[in-house]
Amino acid sequence: MIRFRAAGRQRPDFTDKVVLITGASTGIGRATAIAFREAGARVALAARSTEALETLARRLGGPKAASPLTVDVSDPQQCQRMVEQTIAEFGSLDVLINNAGMLVSGKFEHLQPGDMERQFAVNYFGVVYCTRAALPHLKQSRGAIVNIASVAGFFGLPTSGAYSASKAALISLGQTLYVELKPYGIGVVTVCPYFTSGAKLAEKGILREGGLHRSRRRQRAPGTQTTEQVAEAILRAAYERPRLVVLSPFGRLAWRLNRFAPWLTDALLTKIKN
Ligand SMILES: NC(=O)c1ccc[n+]([C@@H]2O[C@H](COP(=O)([O-])OP(=O)(O)OC[C@H]3O[C@@H](n4cnc5c(N)ncnc54)[C@H](OP(=O)(O)O)[C@@H]3O)[C@@H](O)[C@H]2O)c1
Repeated sequence: MIRFRAAGRQRPDFTDKVVLITGASTGIGRATAIAFREAGARVALAARSTEALETLARRLGGPKAASPLTVDVSDPQQCQRMVEQTIAEFGSLDVLINNAGMLVSGKFEHLQPGDMERQFAVNYFGVVYCTRAALPHLKQSRGAIVNIASVAGFFGLPTSGAYSASKAALISLGQTLYVELKPYGIGVVTVCPYFTSGAKLAEKGILREGGLHRSRRRQRAPGTQTTEQVAEAILRAAYERPRLVVLSPFGRLAWRLNRFAPWLTDALLTKIKN
């Protein structure tokens, strides 16, 4: 089993807590499922790729510890069913990790009708549907919601405008939910990863002309983190429940630059070429 404990800090304990992770078949979601299982949680693993989920569930200890759930998060009924199955199998829900996401990549002028809609259907409305279905159970457990947004949500990133907009909407929703759900004892955390290696995001999705996915430099971006590092941050965020977590020193630098010197970020972003 993969080990990735943060040196010198005690790891959060999620023994017997029930954690539902969307987008658990690959990348950050998969690493997050492993991290929560290592921390003692029982994990519901949701995505569209049933086979990958079944393999991971077996690896994480089988039916009593990990359960594969096939779902397309852009369908509200499937999200409802996913939560009902989680409750049927584990009896409660303590943490919802809204991680499922995809990339529409390409310059705005090259996007096709429906591209922007699909981007929002998965990255934004998927979170809305899963959260709505999970809410009654999270009220009972006084649980937590962790939304996986992106540093890209702080910018109008050239060549990935649809993606940036969907993550900006998610960051905004996170702030609303943080305040609205506090009286119920529900913690809402928005985690914004920076470039992450070992994920499939830039290989799948809707990839149009002019998109950043074509850039080979993307893999070499300074400050890039591994899926395991991101998963560790998600685990800690679900435990400590801060309002916002911006990952990687480079991610935080980019976020602050855009806030305090937008003219400089505009100039730097102008240099992005695929
Ligand atoms: N990689 C990065 O550099 C980076 C940076 C910042 C933020 N993020 C965010 O991190 C999250 C995880 O992405 P990743 O980087 O780990 O990429 P990834 O390896 O492509 O993982 C995406 C996951 O989402 C699932 N998914 C996609 N569409 C879905 C749908 N309609 N219904 C259900 N599941 C769906 C995929 O599984 P199936 O295909 O099996 O459905 C997969 O498990 C995303 O929200 C992404 O925006 C990534």
